[in-house]
Amino acid sequence: MVKLKLDRDRIIEKLDREVSKLGVRIKDADSMKVMENVFDDQTLVALYKLVNKGKLSVIGGSISTGKEANVFYAEDSEGAPVAIKIYRIQSANFNTMNQYLVGDPRFSSVRKSKKEVIFAWTRKEYSNLNRAHDAGIRCPKARYFDRNILLMDFCGENEIPYPQLRHAGIEKGEGQKHYDAIIHDIDRMYNDAGLVHADLSEFNLLFDGSEHIIIDMGQAVTPDHPRAVKFLVRDILNINRFFARLCDIRDEEEIFREIIGEDKLQP
Ligand SMILES: Nc1ncnc2c1ncn2[C@@H]1O[C@H](COP(=O)(O)OP(=O)(O)OP(=O)(O)O)[C@@H](O)[C@H]1O
Ligand SMILES: [Mg+2]
Repeated sequence: MVKLKLDRDRIIEKLDREVSKLGVRIKDADSMKVMENVFDDQTLVALYKLVNKGKLSVIGGSISTGKEANVFYAEDSEGAPVAIKIYRIQSANFNTMNQYLVGDPRFSSVRKSKKEVIFAWTRKEYSNLNRAHDAGIRCPKARYFDRNILLMDFCGENEIPYPQLRHAGIEKGEGQKHYDAIIHDIDRMYNDAGLVHADLSEFNLLFDGSEHIIIDMGQAVTPDHPRAVKFLVRDILNINRFFARLCDIRDEEEIFREIIGEDKLQP
């Protein structure tokens, strides 16, 4: 017990020393404290490696503490804003995560320890974001991952993330074009990126003042996942529910058929 504590203190001290030696600016001492309290030693070492590799030059404040992950503001060596998403090894919901990994052929060999599931999850979010980004979907471009840490482009201004769609204050007159654009993106994600988001809602869409941005893709699956159809229908229903008071929404079955292609529904 005592030894562990000593080792932990040593790691944190080393991290602090290395971070200051490299000239990394800690903009927000509290966020560093959050990191030290929330993450295990190996996560802190992995974070230190990112600093050491020159991937980060500024570590800023905490942006979000979610169910499974914390998000922080940071800057790269050129001063460009970056978001750091760190999955918590302790509190992550291992069973839920495993459901999305099993059945995805890209990750089917992953069925090991809790830690390995979380690392695979991080790798999966990295690969999903880039797949969607390459297909032209507006989402943060993933830059790098290591263990449970994901670096991606920051979506926001002056260190403040764009609001989630639910807080974007979309007016009735504006609803239709945003609804249509989001439905179109669900289609493009399925048909061009080969992905179903699987947790799409007003919580995982940001709004930059004129357009939406899709985030949080750890759980996104390929269309051959056994539950892909169920997830796709749920995504459409969530978007329909949110926009029902803002514009004319389309029948979910019609949207669904259009996305997966009528011919694929024939026996
Ligand atoms: N690339 C980004 N740029 C700016 N802000 C971001 C970015 N990614 C995430 N955020 C902020 O962090 C919040 C949480 O992010 P995200 O939805 O990816 O994680 P989460 O919901 O906590 O994940 P999980 O549910 O898997 O724990 C977002 O609502 C947004 O405010
Ligand atoms: Mg989210």
